[in-house]
Amino acid sequence: MPDDGIDQDAFRKFEHDGWNSLSDGYHDHWEHLTPQIIPLMLERTGVGVGSLVLDIASGPGYAAGAAAAMGARAIGIDLAENMRDLAAANFPDAAFQLGDAEDLPFAGDSFDVVTMNFGVLHFPDAEKALAETFRVLKPGGRLGFTAWEGPEGSALGMATAAIVQEGTVKVDLPQGTPIFRFAEHAECARVLGAIGFEDIASTNTMLTWHLPRADALMESFRQATARMSALLGAQDPAKLPAIKAAMTEACKPFDNGTTTDLPMPAVLTVGRKP
Ligand SMILES: C[S@@+](CC[C@H](N)C(=O)[O-])C[C@H]1O[C@@H](n2cnc3c(N)ncnc32)[C@H](O)[C@@H]1O
Repeated sequence: MPDDGIDQDAFRKFEHDGWNSLSDGYHDHWEHLTPQIIPLMLERTGVGVGSLVLDIASGPGYAAGAAAAMGARAIGIDLAENMRDLAAANFPDAAFQLGDAEDLPFAGDSFDVVTMNFGVLHFPDAEKALAETFRVLKPGGRLGFTAWEGPEGSALGMATAAIVQEGTVKVDLPQGTPIFRFAEHAECARVLGAIGFEDIASTNTMLTWHLPRADALMESFRQATARMSALLGAQDPAKLPAIKAAMTEACKPFDNGTTTDLPMPAVLTVGRKP
């Protein structure tokens, strides 16, 4: 086990297996959530007609698909086979392949733009993955990546607080990158600056998760996200009704009678390879 406490192989397998089994659930529940920030990411990275774009941790293909729709030549890469297949079915105008963000199967100086939408917190070694983006970018090319902000003021924090209150977060799961690490502008600037990026800028943006009802949060998290699904799966089953009730209570202030609109603040960070 390395000094940072992350067993990299165990975490990579956990992520692969989790996302591979949750690909359809992720798409069902978050198809309208994570894409909300993609137009800003593509604008800030300068994607246009003919740009060569690599989208890392492409999941169901949203960012690569959006870039292709703008006339870019887009490739998405993901660790999970089922995500790759779902992306290929969703966005036939982009190309999707399997691969690891920490060991990209591309030559240096290849891409005009690299995007990574809510991918960075899923890599065992985030610095290594970010250094890989620098390697494959052409000089002058831009990286854009996003991360969730929280826990305060986020549905992620609301769900975690309910588990702390009625269950436990002290469960035996592989540890990875701390979930909110790349919400810190200074940390993004430090890590990207050390790699060699210039013109680094982070921007806070509010995304909204539209749930059908206040009591849908626990099941939606369970069906859509690898870490929260595993955390809920590790709870004493007898405590799940109380956890669900606490999550529902936390959601009620956001219920408008038709939908429950939960805040999901996020941070977009962009850097340029000199
Ligand atoms: C939260 S999803 C993000 C999906 C998508 N980018 C979006 O906009 O919604 C995280 C994705 O990271 C992928 N992933 C996890 N570890 C990876 C790795 N080491 N290399 C490449 N992809 C990885 C997962 O398979 C999953 O599809």
